[in-house]
Amino acid sequence: MKNIGMPRAQWASRLGFILAAAGSAVGLGNIWKFPYITGNNGGGAFVLVYLGCIAIVGLPIMMAELMIGRHTQRDAVGAFVQLEGKRSFWLSAGWVSVIAAFIICSYYSVVAGWTLDYVYRALIGSFSGEPAEAIESMFGTLIADGPRQLIWQAIFLLLCLGIVIGGVQKGIERWSKILMPILFLLLGLLFINGMLSKGAWEGFAFMFRPDFSKLSAGSVLEALGHSFFTLSLGMAAMITYGSYLNKTEDLLAASLRVVILDTLIALMAGLAIFSVVFSVGMEPAAGPGLVFKTIPVVFSQIPGGALLAIVFFLLLAFAALTSNISLLEAQVAYFIDERGWSRKKATVFLAGLAFVVGIPTALSYNTLADWEVIGERNFFDSADLIASNYLLPIAGLLIALYVGWFWSGSKEKEELVAGGSGWVYPTWHFLIRYVSPLAVAVVLYFKAKESGL
Ligand code: PFF
Ligand code: NA
Repeated sequence: MKNIGMPRAQWASRLGFILAAAGSAVGLGNIWKFPYITGNNGGGAFVLVYLGCIAIVGLPIMMAELMIGRHTQRDAVGAFVQLEGKRSFWLSAGWVSVIAAFIICSYYSVVAGWTLDYVYRALIGSFSGEPAEAIESMFGTLIADGPRQLIWQAIFLLLCLGIVIGGVQKGIERWSKILMPILFLLLGLLFINGMLSKGAWEGFAFMFRPDFSKLSAGSVLEALGHSFFTLSLGMAAMITYGSYLNKTEDLLAASLRVVILDTLIALMAGLAIFSVVFSVGMEPAAGPGLVFKTIPVVFSQIPGGALLAIVFFLLLAFAALTSNISLLEAQVAYFIDERGWSRKKATVFLAGLAFVVGIPTALSYNTLADWEVIGERNFFDSADLIASNYLLPIAGLLIALYVGWFWSGSKEKEELVAGGSGWVYPTWHFLIRYVSPLAVAVVLYFKAKESGL
């Protein structure tokens, strides 16, 4: 064992853990991706399916990850070393997770850089008084500009580095306690604005009136895949955050709080966005352009919009920051626990590496636009494909199979029983043993088929 004699870092308080874990979960996935995939899949019916996926697959796997982390008090790879020894097949679950964290960290920070660019534009009032076409074309201008994206990406990674280097309590926990309440406040403002706009009713109807004719098998897969991404599962983040959790914490209650916050924020973001979009008579199904094109146009057309644009992009940037912190920490913990590196060295090295690997992502729509890495996909899309379509579900499947079938029942029970009433363990065990692995295997199969690999 490395680091002998050093007490392992722990969260200082329950609230600190909840905010840090919610910070990881609540990210671009909630505010950027959830609304547009809901838009693309016809609204209400998709939301219902998504809620189901979160409850029967997302929640049990989150509990499993936190359980593994807390039980072993190690990083995601070390956790499996501790449980099964250095030569075990199950180490692959840890490796796949940490590699997924690494890949996602590199391109997530590029997209996060876009949000910073938009915070800046909103602050200097670039959207005010401009015609819609001019505002929409700003996004194209940004992604066509490699150096500009790289500067924002570097700034973003420096912010992450500054926080992670401070450690679990003085860095991550402290900043989560500052950033998350601000995030709730910003979203609250946007939500109220949406509810007061004349598109509010239409927004509600769009999100909650189920139209099952618009639902395809593909929508179900999309909902399942997204439930992983949105809850930060299969990426070592929850194992790592769980490893700083104290033994008396009730894992079901903690996971539920994180899952409910994540879901609530996605729904509120969807309502806030669709309501204002409808209020100016625009269309919601705008794909990834929804937040970087449609939203700035909408805000340029409504009273107070200049301020709302600042609020909106700050919200996105803060959400991305607390998420990327967890991706960085998941990798940092590996170097600290398994390689005996100092936190400082590990953080600087990994943030630097994320920057370097992010370079081809930032160049994916300009200098390297013609470079087809996988099929016809550019570097960015290929990295996302590998991570989201393969590594995440593979890690999730391995974790569910390990915990559901191979880990000795007594240890799991021990982890869950603190505070858990009689039905909790059997229900969780049934889901993690049968339902989650099956669901994830189906996603994996169809995603692989769809991507032609
Ligand atoms: N859960 C984040 C989101 O919804 O945007 C993305 C993410 C963050 C995934 C951190 C994984 C992770 F470790
Ligand atoms: Na999320």
